[in-house]
Amino acid sequence: MSKIRAAITGVQGYVPDYVLTNAELETMVETNDEWITTRTGIKERRILKGELQGTSVIAAAAVKGLLEKTNTDPKDIDLILCATVTPDRLFPATANIIADKVGAINSFSFDMAAACSGFLYALATGSQFIETGKYKKVIVIGADKMSSIVDYEDRSTCIIFGDGGGAVLLEPNEEGNGVIDSIMKSDGSGVKHLYMNAGGSMMPASIETVKNRDHYVVQEGSAVFKFAVTNMADVAAELMEKNNLKGEDIAYLVPHQANKRIIDATAKRMGVKDEKVMMNIERYGNTTSGTLPLCLWDYESKLRKGDNLVLAAFGGGFTWGSLYLKWAYDPK
Ligand code: UT7
Repeated sequence: MSKIRAAITGVQGYVPDYVLTNAELETMVETNDEWITTRTGIKERRILKGELQGTSVIAAAAVKGLLEKTNTDPKDIDLILCATVTPDRLFPATANIIADKVGAINSFSFDMAAACSGFLYALATGSQFIETGKYKKVIVIGADKMSSIVDYEDRSTCIIFGDGGGAVLLEPNEEGNGVIDSIMKSDGSGVKHLYMNAGGSMMPASIETVKNRDHYVVQEGSAVFKFAVTNMADVAAELMEKNNLKGEDIAYLVPHQANKRIIDATAKRMGVKDEKVMMNIERYGNTTSGTLPLCLWDYESKLRKGDNLVLAAFGGGFTWGSLYLKWAYDPK
């Protein structure tokens, strides 16, 4: 019997309607379109507005669309995994809320927090449940409402992040398509470069934490940049070598959308040409766990059965990794 692989059999993204442009950011902090564009590649990002609107709003919209387009009965879903660093609440898990919103009453569900590598970690984890033969339908989500933890007085971070996310359906495949291999890494000593201090058990919310703006993302941009460029390219190169892949074998590189300069450096190191690199950072910015499924969603119509895709990400933790998969379907 041939090996069971976990194949993506559908992808759906969701971004909120509100568009926060570089021009609007110019009215909020000391910045300009030219700086943002040349340093990051970002032109605009989406923001989820409204009271009591959390990440589950983004994720549930993506999952509902996914179920519809793949003709899947929500009762048949075995597991929902949601990668996010901006859960609706600390508990219960946002995945539980999403499962309820979409009617996945027979699934178990949990969250995974690995910052910008969250979707990659969740995809590698979710695929294991399919590969063992235990489950037949697993939904993996990457979604974040970064605007809920971004300080719109901090020009070094507020220009980068946006809200959005997407979801994929994983099903068994015995034709050789699906997730082939992955390498995942983490290094908690990176905490000093990218973190949010308050709101957890170490520094619970208080009047002081609010006054000190401790509930916002802090990033030492240039330090993170250096780690990201080196580690994302290294791990992708390691995965390619392990699987005897050359640049020309890759139909698309699917990189985390943190900074166009990091993406370009990774692609160069892998020998992948610009036209084979998925890129939508100019429209959505950095949606943390959301970037990879949003890329797959945007490029879905260009993908063909058997295409080699290499996904790569780097983020807070530090966390980073790369995953090699063969796309399982032609455009429908
Ligand atoms: O997704 C998770 C992982 N995160 C990443 O991978 C992000 C990695 N880092 C980056 O993408 C980049 O470091 C940033 C885009 C965050 C910053 O770009 P940079 O080229 O590293 O700039 P910098 O932080 O070294 O700052 C250069 C200058 C500074 O001014 P001085 O000290 O040279 O006078 C900053 O104060 O640019 C200034 N600056 C800005 N100027 C206009 C910083 N932010 C802005 C801004 N507008 N928004």
